[in-house]
Amino acid sequence: MHCQRRTLTNLIFGVLFVNVIKLSSPLQVSSVVCNCSSITSCYGHCVTSQEIGELDCFGKRINPRIKWKCVWTNGKLTVNKMYRYTLVIEQKKYCQIYPNISGTSMDLRIVNERYNITARLFDESYPHSCKETVFRGFPPELVRCGPPLSVDFKRHSRQLDILPSWGMEKRYIQSYTVRYKELKGPSWAEPTVYSQDINKLTVRNLSSSMTYEVQLRVLENQRCTQVPWSKSFLVQPELTDEPVIKMVKDISKMKGKRLVTIKWKFAASEVSEGYRVTVKKSGGETTETFNTSHPLLTLILSHSAYQFEIIAISKVGTSPAAQRTIPPFYDKGLNGKLKVTFNGNTSFNVSWVDDLIKNYSCFAVEWWGNKEKAAHKSFYEDEKIYKVILLDEPLQQYTRYTFTLHTRLDKDVCNLKSINNSESTYGSIQAYFKEGIPISAPGNISSNVTQSSMVLEWIAVPEEDTRGFLLGYILYYRENPQDGTETETNITIDAGSMSYELVDLKSSTVYKVQLSAFTGAGMGHTLLQMV
Ligand SMILES: *[C@@H]1O[C@H](CO)[C@@H](O)[C@H](O)[C@H]1NC(C)=O
Ligand SMILES: *[C@@H]1O[C@H](CO)[C@@H](O)[C@H](O)[C@H]1NC(C)=O
Ligand SMILES: *[C@@H]1O[C@H](CO)[C@@H](O)[C@H](O)[C@H]1NC(C)=O
Ligand SMILES: *[C@@H]1O[C@H](CO)[C@@H](O)[C@H](O)[C@H]1NC(C)=O
Ligand SMILES: *[C@@H]1O[C@H](CO)[C@@H](O)[C@H](O)[C@H]1NC(C)=O
Ligand SMILES: *[C@@H]1O[C@H](CO)[C@@H](O)[C@H](O)[C@H]1NC(C)=O
Ligand SMILES: *[C@@H]1O[C@H](CO)[C@@H](O)[C@H](O)[C@H]1NC(C)=O
Ligand SMILES: *[C@@H]1O[C@H](CO)[C@@H](O)[C@H](O)[C@H]1NC(C)=O
Repeated sequence: MHCQRRTLTNLIFGVLFVNVIKLSSPLQVSSVVCNCSSITSCYGHCVTSQEIGELDCFGKRINPRIKWKCVWTNGKLTVNKMYRYTLVIEQKKYCQIYPNISGTSMDLRIVNERYNITARLFDESYPHSCKETVFRGFPPELVRCGPPLSVDFKRHSRQLDILPSWGMEKRYIQSYTVRYKELKGPSWAEPTVYSQDINKLTVRNLSSSMTYEVQLRVLENQRCTQVPWSKSFLVQPELTDEPVIKMVKDISKMKGKRLVTIKWKFAASEVSEGYRVTVKKSGGETTETFNTSHPLLTLILSHSAYQFEIIAISKVGTSPAAQRTIPPFYDKGLNGKLKVTFNGNTSFNVSWVDDLIKNYSCFAVEWWGNKEKAAHKSFYEDEKIYKVILLDEPLQQYTRYTFTLHTRLDKDVCNLKSINNSESTYGSIQAYFKEGIPISAPGNISSNVTQSSMVLEWIAVPEEDTRGFLLGYILYYRENPQDGTETETNITIDAGSMSYELVDLKSSTVYKVQLSAFTGAGMGHTLLQMV
């Protein structure tokens, strides 16, 4: 090279550069100022390339300034050969040289935005052949906005939400648009939709199962004069199917605990990044979310009921949820350890037989009626062996409640902080705040009559109709009911029976037979049968 070089620091700029910008370059190449008239002699031997678009110069808004840059593509050298480029920037009478560049872009140090810019790129990779590429433009027309720094995509209900982050240019951008096509599809669909603001644009009526290529473009304005399409972003299909629960294993572990393993399958597992399992303790005391990459979750739980909700997660959204309720775990061994007495319908006492306060001071009592949501109260107790529980909702009469008491290891906060392995069930008892009499009679009585005996069979009163603990049945029978002379006989039958044989009956005699169920509150309706 024959040019006489001087470093930039030695140069006196004078007053002509009004809007002078100095930017640091990532490539620490010293910029050299040459006499512009010598360029011709320096690079006169270079052949001008006819290829268009090989050299491109533009500005990007870096709040509040504009950062200028030229980019180009490499020639067709063999892999291990070094590229050597020299970039010359001319504006009016001034020029700068960036020599010996091995990359394919250069940040420009000084650009006066009022003057046309000419960039010349000399490819000196070959010692004896030089190629020159020229770019010309007017800086205000070269300010490029976009592409976004990153884009989040969310898909649901055949919609696609496009959520870009723009970085520092965001104050100059007002809106953006989008085009999309099926993966490797032939042509772009360009809906004429522009985003309301710079944060979100929704495209509708897509096909849920399709993978799309999506490109974004900023809406042109005075400060964004170049708005190229971004590169293609690949948008995975929507997750439309829920995971399928394959197995729930619920086994008694140690006293008052159980090991619950839940396994599922997800059809579109290749696009799922993992699963989110939400486990809610009945009564809603605690809800905890577990992230897992495998379709499996194992928890150590108490004997309460729990609700599981499993969703698959992909880059673009979540699947519908698979749900499963795990019922309370019944362990006969825990009966008889708990007592419950009622003080009106808004309070009860719960007491326990063992010396629990030796080891525990945090407890929770949980109770629920037929098909009712569970309620719960956690409490601290380190002196007494009972606790008075005051209720927000009154207890219902004629409803069978199950009460359970759980012990908690955590002594600081008696509320359950985590669901896994942090409480065990101590005892369980069923009780009525107030018993009622059965509202229905034993069902479908049938009789099988012989000469002197009769076998009665019936169907038990369903639990929701007994309205108290079923203590048994009373069978009344009377000979010749019309003449009114014979007294009525009654027989008490235990609660577990569903048949009874009357013997020593007289032949050719009419019997009136009645059967009713009874609880601690009394006898229910009777079912009449004439035989
Ligand atoms: C050009 O840069 C390479 C390394 O990037 C260096 O080895 C070489 O000496 C430089 N040539 C000139 C003329 O500065
Ligand atoms: C910049 O160049 C264009 C032609 O490329 C010309 O029309 C325009 O007048 C020039 N502008 C200035 C400020 O020199
Ligand atoms: C699970 O992942 C989500 C994001 O996918 C995150 O917000 C949440 O904190 C994670 N939860 C746990 C318990 O790691
Ligand atoms: C629950 O706790 C048990 C025992 O500490 C542990 O083996 C299991 O991995 C835990 N489960 C989760 C989902 O953290
Ligand atoms: C609870 O008891 C009070 C007073 O004994 C009574 O007025 C009220 O109706 C009861 N509520 C229910 C739901 O039974
Ligand atoms: C009682 O008998 C009727 C008719 O004989 C039948 O439809 C009904 O299902 C029976 N009920 C039960 C609980 O078996
Ligand atoms: C009635 O009882 C007799 C003898 O015990 C038995 O053979 C018959 O099958 C019974 N009939 C019905 C309808 O149960
Ligand atoms: C059953 O009969 C006895 C007398 O035989 C009577 O004292 C009793 O009250 C009767 N029980 C019922 C529930 O009717």
